[in-house]
Amino acid sequence: MIDLRSDTVTKPTPAMRRAMASAEVGDDVYGEDPTVNRLQERAAEIFEKEAAIFVPTGSMGNQIAVKLHTRPGMEVVIEERGHIFNFEMAAMAAVSGTVARPVKSRDGSGILTWDEIAAALHINSAYYVAPTGLIALENSHNLAGGTLLTRARTEEICARAHELNLPVHLDGARIFNAAVALNETVAALARPVNSVMFCLSKALGAPVGSMLLGSRDLVAAARSWRKLLGGGMRQAGVLAAAGLVALEESPKLLPEDHANARRLAEGVAELAGISVDPEQIVTNIVIFDVSGTRRAADEICARLAEHNVLASGFGSSIRMVTHYDVSRADIETALQALREVIGEQ
Ligand SMILES: Cc1ncc(COP(=O)(O)O)c(C=O)c1O
Repeated sequence: MIDLRSDTVTKPTPAMRRAMASAEVGDDVYGEDPTVNRLQERAAEIFEKEAAIFVPTGSMGNQIAVKLHTRPGMEVVIEERGHIFNFEMAAMAAVSGTVARPVKSRDGSGILTWDEIAAALHINSAYYVAPTGLIALENSHNLAGGTLLTRARTEEICARAHELNLPVHLDGARIFNAAVALNETVAALARPVNSVMFCLSKALGAPVGSMLLGSRDLVAAARSWRKLLGGGMRQAGVLAAAGLVALEESPKLLPEDHANARRLAEGVAELAGISVDPEQIVTNIVIFDVSGTRRAADEICARLAEHNVLASGFGSSIRMVTHYDVSRADIETALQALREVIGEQ
């Protein structure tokens, strides 16, 4: 089975399994798991932030950040396809009492300009208008097809937001992909934001876990909210050990995933009824519109599964994501399967 549904489907590497089996552990609710502590220190060092906390999922990391930056009754400005808004239930309402103020990116890239954000802000508005409490960014942008927020754009947004005393949170589930594609460090991409979440369990390939980073005070407060949400784990060093391997070893493998995604897009672009611009595929996510085939995306995915290729249907689009368990040969096999499925009427 060639599984292109997401980069979350990777299995732990032999090095990760070895590290997990021999991990030194303790009770992390007491702050006594040496491997979790090492992961947190190493992540903070790489991101040049004061502190980091290990959380079970990216969703929990994002939602703790929303909670810490806002008060009930506030709005969170976010691009309309942002993960925090679309794929984390209504957690920003249920957990933080906030609502999203979704904003469309005019160029369709999913990457907002400051002017687009500024037009959606409510600062010192009439008393009956919900004030903006937070700007939430995403890099790379999942539903927009792995698109990139540059360092300059992040700096501009944060500088202008901070002039207004507005915090900025970055959903960096795939920030290592963004850093590779932009030839930047993750520290540079995250430097101006008040908090950043990244996932060990996506392109970096760890089985479980994400990190939330920011100031020492923010991370101390995050520890309480993680507990309240049921995310205080005990001998979590077994998981953190795989996370450490992912953090050290996986970033250097990402260029291959990006090259595979570009090759996939080039092959897909040749098929009748499908539209995708391979030049726009800059990380590991390929989203293509199949409406020209007059077939439903889900039906095409179901037929692909019969050819042992898994992909995700989203409305009239299909998403395929490359990762370390998919080789260049697998990409060619998947393309051949797609040619056959699209060729049949
Ligand atoms: C951009 C983005 N943010 C956050 C998440 C949430 O991560 P998790 O599935 O670990 O909750 C995802 C998951 O796909 C994601 O793609």
